[in-house]
Amino acid sequence: MPQVIVVYESNYGHTERAAAVVAEGAEQVSGVSVRCRAVGQVTKDDVLDSNALLLGTPVHMGSVHWGIKRFIDEVLSGLWSQDLMVGRVGGVFATGGGLGGAGGGCELAMLSMLSVMAELGMVLVPLPKNSEGFARGGLHWGAYVRCATSAQAQTDIPDHCLPLLREHGANVARVAALSASRPTRSAFDRTTTHTFTRRST
Ligand SMILES: Cc1cc2nc3c(=O)[nH]c(=O)nc-3n(C[C@H](O)[C@H](O)[C@H](O)COP(=O)(O)O)c2cc1C
Repeated sequence: MPQVIVVYESNYGHTERAAAVVAEGAEQVSGVSVRCRAVGQVTKDDVLDSNALLLGTPVHMGSVHWGIKRFIDEVLSGLWSQDLMVGRVGGVFATGGGLGGAGGGCELAMLSMLSVMAELGMVLVPLPKNSEGFARGGLHWGAYVRCATSAQAQTDIPDHCLPLLREHGANVARVAALSASRPTRSAFDRTTTHTFTRRST
């Protein structure tokens, strides 16, 4: 059975709630099993047991939360070194305060997660513009939720973002199901090993 893992970081609950809605969308795809976990609880084996990874972050200082960066450096980089993520499916989502009305760095945060997924050789799933609610709250890189007013008062996830979060989860799960049902291709099976060496001082 294709497995999807939704991995998120969250200090104040917004990204955690967004992750739950993304997972709900993924669960709508029949035959797919979905887990939703805080990033600190996710091991290398959890990732390896999954056909798809959905990664969600709060925007912090125009980039990802350090917890996500730690996960990338401590868990995903080890999988990169053995080509173990090649051919797995990836998608991203983010929440942010969006001060200034131009996104507050959400695109950079999402692109930095997507670029890591590309480096890992994953199959990237964006958010197409025909997604329900895209005209009001869509972003091509994935699902983004602004959880603050223009005066920076914290808000819950706005209703118009819920279909986008669900649809993104469902799209990733659909691609995971498709890729799991196909015979693996040689490029996805081939492994090369790269190790990091520390320079001696
Ligand atoms: C240290 C810190 C830095 C932040 N930097 C940004 C930022 O650069 N851009 C932005 O849009 N929001 C920024 N925010 C707001 C959070 O991204 C936003 O409140 C988010 O929804 C919090 O998610 P959480 O409830 O899952 O922790 C920042 C918040 C914190 C605590």
